[in-house]
Formats: sequence, C-alpha cells, structure tokens
Amino acid sequence: MCHSLKEVTKFQSYYARENWRDIVRTMIADGAELKDPQIPVLVDYLTQTFPKNFPDGEGKNILETACSECHAAGAVRRFDGYYTRDNWQDLVRTMIANGASLTDDQATVLVDYLTAVFPAPKPVTAKSP
Ligand code: HEC
Repeated sequence: MCHSLKEVTKFQSYYARENWRDIVRTMIADGAELKDPQIPVLVDYLTQTFPKNFPDGEGKNILETACSECHAAGAVRRFDGYYTRDNWQDLVRTMIANGASLTDDQATVLVDYLTAVFPAPKPVTAKSP
C-alpha cells in the first residue's frame, strides 16, 4: 500500500528473524494493518523466504566442516530468533555427544558465532506490542 516490495526484498540475506520482527513492528507503528495472529505468520514467512546468509568467519568454517557431516549446516536456522547463548551452547554440546568432532575452542567460537548471527529473542516487557 505504501511502497513497493523492493523495500522488503532488498534485505534478503541480511536479516535474521529478530530483524524481520523489528521491521514488522515498525511498519505496524507506521500504520500497516495486521491482525495479531498474522504477525508471527508474516515474520516466519519473511525469515524463511529471505534467509540470512552465514557471514564469513571462523564460525562459518566450523559449521561447514564439523556440522555438515550428518545433516545440512542450515539446520541451525530453525532456532533463529528463539535461542539464547545458553541454548546454542546446549545444542553444540548435544551435537558433540551425537558425534560432531570439535575442540573446546572451536565449540566456543561456534557458540559465539551462532549467538551473534541469530540474535536471541528480546525480553518481553510491558511496552512490547
Ligand atoms: C555425527 C552426526 C552429527 C553431527 C556431526 C552434527 N549433528 Fe546435529 N544432529 C544430529 C542428529 C542425529 C540430530 C537429530 C537428533 C537430535 O536432535 O539429537 C541432529 C539435529 C540437529 C539440529 C536440530 C534439527 C531440527 O530440525 O530439530 C540442529 C540445529 C543441529 N543438529 C545442529 C548441529 C550443529 C550446529 C552441529 C555442529 C556442531 C551438528 N549439528 C553436528 C547429528 C549430528
């Protein structure tokens, strides 16, 4: 209604779930008409349709080597916007128990990477919409 969809697609590859959530919240504040139950559906759709690229770095290398033996490294996307650092830590520990071979240092680098790339949910406050 207010601008072309190019304004949406230009964020392709850059936005994690939390960024899409923020955008949708801002647009609602700007007057976009969405019903409450439509919000998570739209945020999910945007997150899945325009997934964030894995930024280059040591974390990506580990993900592509130690984590892609048994399943796609992209499996981590599923928890984008839901996992805190502790949750990522638990996941990586579980995968090591499953047979992933990582040193302790690599595990820490990977946990930091996942925490930074896929930000944790923001705490709910009385001011949240
Ligand atoms: C030796 C095989 C193996 C390796 C290597 C491995 N995983 Fe897994 N992964 C599994 C198995 C088996 C499951 C499903 C059962 C479970 O959840 O434990 C799984 C499930 C997952 C899931 C959940 C997928 C879903 O849809 O619920 C994620 C996320 C994940 N792994 C991430 C990782 C990460 C990150 C690494 C690297 C540190 C890794 N995995 C390395 C075997 C492996």
